[in-house]
Amino acid sequence: MTSYKDLGLVNSRELFKKAMAGKYAIPAFNFNNMEQLQAIIQACVEKRSPVILQVSSGARKYANQTLLRYMAQGAVEYAKELGYNIPIVLHLDHGDTFELCQSCIEYGFSSVMIDGSKYPYAENVELTRKVVEYAHKYDVTVEGELGVLAGIEDDVVAAAHVYTQPSEVEDFVSKTGVDSLAISIGTSHGANKFKPEQCTRNADGILVPPPLRFDILKEIEKRIPGFPIVLHGSSSVPQDQVAIINKYGGALKDAIGIPEEQLREAATSAVCKINIDSDGRLAMTAAVREVLATKPAEFDPRKYLGPARESLKKLYMHKVENVLGSAFKA
Ligand code: G3H
Ligand code: 13P
Ligand code: ZN
Repeated sequence: MTSYKDLGLVNSRELFKKAMAGKYAIPAFNFNNMEQLQAIIQACVEKRSPVILQVSSGARKYANQTLLRYMAQGAVEYAKELGYNIPIVLHLDHGDTFELCQSCIEYGFSSVMIDGSKYPYAENVELTRKVVEYAHKYDVTVEGELGVLAGIEDDVVAAAHVYTQPSEVEDFVSKTGVDSLAISIGTSHGANKFKPEQCTRNADGILVPPPLRFDILKEIEKRIPGFPIVLHGSSSVPQDQVAIINKYGGALKDAIGIPEEQLREAATSAVCKINIDSDGRLAMTAAVREVLATKPAEFDPRKYLGPARESLKKLYMHKVENVLGSAFKA
């Protein structure tokens, strides 16, 4: 058993308390490899932002759990070396079984998500409660989920959103003892969050997706005041990055994300954690494609992963400063 405390990591409790009071959200950036981790740490140290390093079960298989533990420990030391000891959480994203959550806790994670949203309500409560009971013994914080995001979530493909029912949240939070709750109010995973026919066009001809269901969020806040809410599927799918990808041989069609102003608004509410993965994938892919297409003789991975890391860093700095509002809160 490795305690996250020995790795220099923190759980999310204090961070969410401060984010709630300060009306901002903590960034939760997914990572699978060294360049992504370097970009996240460099950006968050430079902007003095707390950060949640997020690992999906797929990422854990890809990177190896032992390596991940040392990478997270390395991230803490790297931040110090860069000059500022920002709070860093190592979080399991979309944990789907008790055993996976338990194993992550044993390997040094400071926070886990147990996503029982695909199960009937009573089963979700039971599974989440079991994870909370185990996690809290080690002072590890737990995120649960109510409602299903449209698109792909945990290999479950939902044709439409199942919005979180505000009437369930008090009961879920009190029965499970979770520390935060992910909700479904119109976001979804991936780079194709909306179909063009769901959108309208603004004066410049840009597609504008339907707004998030802030009415549901407000109703939830009324029922569990001061309780930390999490937004998954919160990439904005920057069109300049999509254009670079497509210019250099990519084939991304109808890629539409959540407008940043809406995420900014959400961050000032009880939303304390905002999950961003796809935007990082787009930035990285755009940079790699551009180098490979414009410098076909290049074969040193540092020559395309280096620019990809720079582009990621710029993206993360922009997110913490202009979208989440977490800059200079560490
Ligand atoms: O919510 C899902 C995250 O974007 C992680 O995706 O399972 O492909 O690593 P992944
Ligand atoms: P995006 O696909 O919108 O980046 O969402 C990531 C996410 O929710 C990870 O859990
Ligand atoms: Zn998610």
